[in-house]
Order: sequence, then C-alpha cells, then structure tokens
Amino acid sequence: MGKSAVLIVGGTGYLGKRLVKASLEQGHETYVLHRPEIGVDIERVQMLLSFKEQGARLVSGSLNDHRSLVNAVKLADVVICAISGVHIRSHQILLQLKLVDAIKEAGNVKRFLPSEFGTDPARMKDAMEPGRVTFDDKMTVRKAIEAAGIPFTYVSANCFAGYFLGGLCQPGKILPSKEHVLFLGDGNQKAIYVDEDDIAMYTIKSIDDPRTLNKTLYIRPPKNILSQREVVEIWEKLIGKELLKSSISKEEFLGTMKSKDYAEQVGLTHYYHVCYEGCLTNFEIGTQGEEASKLYPEVEYTSVEEYLKRYL
Ligand SMILES: NC(=O)c1ccc[n+]([C@@H]2O[C@H](COP(=O)([O-])OP(=O)(O)OC[C@H]3O[C@@H](n4cnc5c(N)ncnc54)[C@H](OP(=O)(O)O)[C@@H]3O)[C@@H](O)[C@H]2O)c1
Repeated sequence: MGKSAVLIVGGTGYLGKRLVKASLEQGHETYVLHRPEIGVDIERVQMLLSFKEQGARLVSGSLNDHRSLVNAVKLADVVICAISGVHIRSHQILLQLKLVDAIKEAGNVKRFLPSEFGTDPARMKDAMEPGRVTFDDKMTVRKAIEAAGIPFTYVSANCFAGYFLGGLCQPGKILPSKEHVLFLGDGNQKAIYVDEDDIAMYTIKSIDDPRTLNKTLYIRPPKNILSQREVVEIWEKLIGKELLKSSISKEEFLGTMKSKDYAEQVGLTHYYHVCYEGCLTNFEIGTQGEEASKLYPEVEYTSVEEYLKRYL
C-alpha cells in the first residue's frame, strides 16, 4: 500500500510548519492550504514558497469558501489541521467545523487529525474557567467528526517543549533564567515535555497506521516525564550552578490569575491543571489510546536535557 497523500491546514503555524516538514521527510505527497486572506503577509508567502521548494504543493482555499475547501480536501487521503489554539496568539479551533463539513461532503478522506496536540480534552470535563474553552471547543470538533462518521486520530502531545521547558515550566516565560526559578506548588507534579519536531514526526508516522485509527495517540517519551523540580535540576547541571528558588501556592496562583486579562487567564488555567493537578500523568492510557514511543520504538526522540542544551 502506498503512502497517503496529506493535506495540511494551518501549515504556516508554529506546529503546522513542522508537520509539513515531517510529511515531506516521510515521503508523503504533501499539500498545504494557502488561504487568500493572508494577503500581503510576506513572511507567510515566503514560508509557503519554501515549502514548495521542498516538494510540497500549495493549494488555494479558504475556510470561508466551502467549494474551495472541498476541492482541496479531494486531493488528499489524510487531512491534518494545525489551526491556532493558543489564546495569547490566536484561537480558531471552531473554524474546523467548516473543514469537517468539507471532509464530509468530499467523502474521500481516510483519516482526519484535528488541531489538538495538547492535553486530552476528553479528560478535562471538570476543567476550570476560563481555560476550559480550549477543551470544550476541541470536544465540539470531535463530536462533529464522529457524528459525520469521519475516521480520525486525535494526537495528545502533552507540553510543547518550547513553551514549557524554555520557561522551566513557569507561565509567561519562554527563556530559562540562570538566576531564579519559581516552583508551582512543591514543583513535584510530573508533566510530559515533547520537542515540537518530534510531535510532528510521531503525528505523521501515525497517519497510515491501522493501530491509531479512531484512537488517541498519546506522546509520552519515557525520559521526558518529569516534574518541574527535575527539569530545573537538569538545567542546573547544564549551567553548573544552582538557581535561587521560591514557590507559589495553589491559592496564591489562583488569586493572582484574577487580575490578568482573558487570554492570559486561559493559559494560566492550563498551567494550573498540568503543574498543580498533574492532569497529563494521572491516568492510564487504556484501550481507546496508543502511546507513540511504544508504537515507534525506533524513533530517537529529543530528551529534556538535549532540548535545554540549545539555551546554553
Ligand atoms: N500542548 C501545548 O503545549 C501546545 C502549545 C501550543 C499549541 N498547542 C496546540 O497546537 C495547535 C496548533 O497551535 P499553533 O500554536 O501551532 O498555532 P498558530 O501558530 O498560532 O497558528 C496555526 C495556523 O492557524 C492558521 N489560522 C489562524 N487563523 C486562521 C483563520 N481565521 N483561518 C484559517 N487559518 C487560520 C494560521 O494560518 P495563516 O498562516 O494562513 O494565518 C496558522 O497557520 C492548537 O490546537 C494548539 O492548541 C499546544
């Protein structure tokens, strides 16, 4: 059986550009949706042209133009969406309902991977306001996919390393300090950190794999399941120095959150569930999911130590 042709929607994004690269590297015919709305955004256009140079095919189409979307979808066996879903940047998760309509009408798609790539929203029914909007919207998209009978894989990628390791798990920081760190609570809750290129690589590996059909793929590289304290220890070893440490209790964290704007509050809620409640590691995967590093043991994923070395 040949490799599936892939259409990537949101291919110009932080994760999307990595999906394009991984899809090409793994030998898939790769289409990238180019939406006319980007107008004269020269950086986006240059990025799209660089994809083309690497072998991708650009397809013009818009989420606001159903016909163009159906035509784009018809070119591919697998559709992957990486549309924005981080409030401090942009949050367009529900726009995917238009893509679901197009996939349903086109009728040829063997698998759809919606824009998820984080905490499993199905496990976040009791999540806090206002951050629960991310999980609620992703669940709305899941329901539409399943109601339309579209085959799927959901990817739960846990923490993007750039956000979480870059800031030593401190919200609002994406560069590691050589002086000080603030622990969220006792800093002992385990989370899971994944290099964004590895997320893309595992995602593409899963698209033609019958074991991940209609399942959730959890990316849990075993060496990268660590607490904030353990991450900080690795950083301290790398810089050869101990950081000054303080901590913020759950109550204080929730108290200070109230004075922030909406987009920041959404992000802080996510940190709360990960770092105080351990929502990424407090469950077994079960029969409706698969774990990426077990399915693809040949992959040499990036460890936390290797990732942090790039900040030296
Ligand atoms: N687990 C984690 O730590 C973590 C961290 C970050 C993100 N995520 C998740 O990863 C996914 C992708 O996020 P990201 O940060 O990579 O996204 P992003 O870079 O903010 O944006 C991705 C894409 O969204 C597209 N887009 C924005 N508005 C659009 C619109 N109105 N119509 C069509 N396309 C539009 C952009 O296309 P144009 O270039 O055409 O504008 C861009 O290519 C989301 O589901 C997010 O929740 C998880």
